[in-house]
Amino acid sequence: MYKQLADYYDEIYHFKNYQKEAEKIETLIQQYKKSSGNRLLDVACGTGSHIAYLRQHYVVEGLDFSPEMLRLARKKHPEVVFHRGDMTAFKLDNRFDVITCLFSAIGHVKTKVRMRRAVRNMASHLQSGGLVILEPWITPSNFKKGLVSFTFVDKPDLKIARINITKARGPISTLEFHFLIGTPNKVQHIVDRELLGLWTHQEYLDAFRDVGLEVVYDAEGLMGRGLYLGVKP
Ligand SMILES: C[S@@+](CC[C@H](N)C(=O)[O-])C[C@H]1O[C@@H](n2cnc3c(N)ncnc32)[C@H](O)[C@@H]1O
Repeated sequence: MYKQLADYYDEIYHFKNYQKEAEKIETLIQQYKKSSGNRLLDVACGTGSHIAYLRQHYVVEGLDFSPEMLRLARKKHPEVVFHRGDMTAFKLDNRFDVITCLFSAIGHVKTKVRMRRAVRNMASHLQSGGLVILEPWITPSNFKKGLVSFTFVDKPDLKIARINITKARGPISTLEFHFLIGTPNKVQHIVDRELLGLWTHQEYLDAFRDVGLEVVYDAEGLMGRGLYLGVKP
């Protein structure tokens, strides 16, 4: 999706209130961060929509695996430093006071081993007293198979109908998206299957605790999916 559909990402997620989400993140940072610095890394930053607000308070950098998403993020924020990297393996010289990983991007790493590796890697890039804020994907018991849902974009020169169904097999969920994208020259039909790992609340807590982070869970989070807040002692 992030390769073929990056140019439509912001249009498709027009319903997300990034400003409100960033305000909640800022409140949580004030509450939990113990380090004195203000360097923030947004892992799996996508097109940089949280960064637009977080950069008002922090010296922000972004990291993402997709060159197409990074191209859009760089265009929006030419002064911000962006890195291309995989959340399970990136290595940066800087240490950060806050590392965010939002909108369930963690699910894309698919396996529990890789989820734990991503948490370990983020923790290793924190200053002492720094904070990881992770918005998880849905837990296995809350994930509903066979849901059908839709999103529409209705602009003068762009119409998008996105219909998706949910499936799951074992610890992997599948979101099968069918896009019809209409522009003045053509209508495209694109099918995109996103595989996201399903992990329990306990598995997320263990991933944080096993790398020495003191973890707090905020059940409501940004959009009802919860948030894990891990402080490095
Ligand atoms: C649902 S989007 C979230 C983007 C952004 N955080 C937001 O809230 O709009 C997921 C992002 O994760 C990125 N991604 C997927 N797998 C990744 C990985 N292993 N390492 C880093 N980024 C990854 C994708 O390229 C995409 O930009």
